[in-house]
Formats: sequence, C-alpha cells, structure tokens
Amino acid sequence: MQRLLLLAYGVNRPYEHFRDLASRLCLEGEILPWLRDRCGSVLFVGTASYTWHYETLFAADGYATLDIADGAAVWGARRHIVAPVQELTRHHPAGFFDAVVLNGVLGFGIDTPQQMRCTFEELRRALPPQGVLVVGWNTDRHEDPEALGLYDGFERSGERRFFADETHVYDVLVSSPPAPLTGR
Ligand SMILES: C[S@@+](CC[C@H](N)C(=O)[O-])C[C@H]1O[C@@H](n2cnc3c(N)ncnc32)[C@H](O)[C@@H]1O
Repeated sequence: MQRLLLLAYGVNRPYEHFRDLASRLCLEGEILPWLRDRCGSVLFVGTASYTWHYETLFAADGYATLDIADGAAVWGARRHIVAPVQELTRHHPAGFFDAVVLNGVLGFGIDTPQQMRCTFEELRRALPPQGVLVVGWNTDRHEDPEALGLYDGFERSGERRFFADETHVYDVLVSSPPAPLTGR
C-alpha cells in the first residue's frame, strides 16, 4: 500500500528512463532470468523504486532483498533484510543463498577499498562453493574491483559486459571451492 502511494506520488519519475538503459535491460532480461533458472535462492542487494518489480521474475521463495537503509524496505521483496551486506552471515548461515546480486552498491555506500574488501570477504563467507556473485558497478565511480584484488577466491564466468555510452558494467563470478585436502 505504501509502495503504491509512493509510486502514485511519482517518486519513480526521475528514474523512469532506467528501464530503457541497455544495462538494465541486460539485468532484467538476461542476468536475473539466468539466475532464476540456475539458483534456488537469490539475494538482491540494494533496493530502489526501480527495482521492486524484480521479485516478480522469481518463484515465491526464490528471491530476497537486503538494504542497509530502513527506508529502502518499502521497495524490498516479501523476504527483505535491513542490514549492511557486510553482516549478511549474521542473518543467514553461509550457503543459504546460491547467488548474490551486488548491483549499484559499490560507489553508492560501499565506497572505499577497505569497505569493498570487507564486503567481498563477507560474500565469500556467505556463498557456497560454486555460488554466483553478480557485480554491477560504474567504471567512473571507483577503481576496478578486480584490479583491487577483490575477486580473489572467485572465478570469472564469461567476460565483463560493457554497454555503449554507459559506464555501468557487469562481472559474473563463481565462488571457488576450497583447496582440496592434501594427504601428508
Ligand atoms: C544506487 S541504490 C540502488 C541499487 C540497486 N541495487 C540497483 O540495482 O540499482 C544503492 C543502494 O545500496 C544501499 N546500500 C549502500 N550501502 C550498503 C551496504 N553496506 N549494505 C547494504 N545496502 C547498502 C543503499 O541504501 C541504496 O539503497
């Protein structure tokens, strides 16, 4: 109800053009359906008036959201967590989510290399071996997370996706299994 009132009030108007951006079309039309078809449980980090409908792409228990800001909960899924993503495993045990989408959060609250490092350490703890991490970020807002070494412990799934006339890119990563136990 609160969401409907906010939408009727026009809070989404400044973001209406987002729908037509090639990077958003890729997220909604390719990446999220790809995750839905492969992963039982997906966590989408960071909610906004232009992300609430992503839940409709998933089965009822297949999608959850998380945002640090209380006020962002109105745009969250039925399963929504109010917390910093750096504390994800306080709320759900490691391996609970098969995939995490971290889109537009680096550079929008998680800004310094140290904050980013804590975030990726927590995501490595939270994801199961072969868990999927989608990182959507803007090349003009901060250093390349890969160059900062934040992708250590993950393997790339495919090449980085770029979009003409946009700074937004996607990296799809797969969490590496732990090193095998070696006999003495
Ligand atoms: C640009 S907005 C929305 C991003 C959205 N995921 C998207 O696809 O565009 C960034 C959001 O990230 C949230 N955020 C910032 N730092 C966070 C953190 N440490 N943990 C969880 N959410 C965070 C903010 O509250 C904000 O709602």
